[in-house]
Amino acid sequence: MIESVVLREVRGRVGILTLNRPKALNALNDDVMDALGVALLEFDADNDIGAIVITGSEKAFAAGADITVMKDLNYVEALRSDFITRNWETIRRVRKPVIAAVSGYALGGGCELAMMCDIIIAGDNARFGQPEIKLGIMPGAGGSQRLPRAVGKSKAMDLVLTARMMDAAEAERAGLVSRVVPAERVLDEAIEAATVIASMSLPAVMLAKEAVNRAYETPLAEGLLFERRAFHALFSTEDQKEGMVAFVEKRPATFVHR
Ligand code: CAA
Repeated sequence: MIESVVLREVRGRVGILTLNRPKALNALNDDVMDALGVALLEFDADNDIGAIVITGSEKAFAAGADITVMKDLNYVEALRSDFITRNWETIRRVRKPVIAAVSGYALGGGCELAMMCDIIIAGDNARFGQPEIKLGIMPGAGGSQRLPRAVGKSKAMDLVLTARMMDAAEAERAGLVSRVVPAERVLDEAIEAATVIASMSLPAVMLAKEAVNRAYETPLAEGLLFERRAFHALFSTEDQKEGMVAFVEKRPATFVHR
């Protein structure tokens, strides 16, 4: 039996997707990205799943787009096929939160995949970078746009233009990752965070995720308007009543919409 390039597992209300091309350090080809896209959309549509974790191996989250595939690509083919777009942005269509649990290398497309997730939790052995310049190309799956938004212009230029890698501590200082934990804890930490998120009211989670993403995609006034409309809308849910009554009654909330 051929083993899948993306493994699926469900723990409680958390869907876990593990990139599984360990011999190629999880280099991302069409098979991997297609499988990842299908699995993400299925988890997103599954009422029993409240949050998703994407992870890799201990040595590599993903070492980038597959260079063996790219080496023979020419400009016209890249342009015509809109190379790298196919299924790479599926993750943006996912409305439930997605956490990247990064151990080892997250380079090129691997770093870009992590940055498409909502939260990055890193093992202390994680290395982030956009080393495409060493291959005579540049980032092509969002790295030149999402990295500066995450770490600022100077550090993004440094990484993109010199191909230098950033370790987990530097990535946390720079704001790229939300937490750094010992490498052997990274998946458990991500699953714990996802479990907490999956226990909240799903409408609140989905609107909160959308609102934070607006901060990166719209002017401030538009983002604030979206936030206010979404905030008001949540007062129509049973979960708002339950959450606030539970607080007043000093008991844990049990949300209906999960
Ligand atoms: N594509 C294809 N194969 C890859 C790969 C990639 N991106 N990264 C690693 N591999 C393969 C290696 O060829 C090697 O295969 P073999 O055993 O068959 O020789 C195997 O994975 C193990 O890799 P190394 O022997 O190189 O392992 P290492 O520990 O010595 O080095 C590394 C690790 C520093 C990550 C190194 O593998 C490396 O530099 N990889 C390439 C990183 C890179 O340039 N990524 C950007 C790709 S371009 C891109 O992603 C474009 C975009 O924006 C979407």
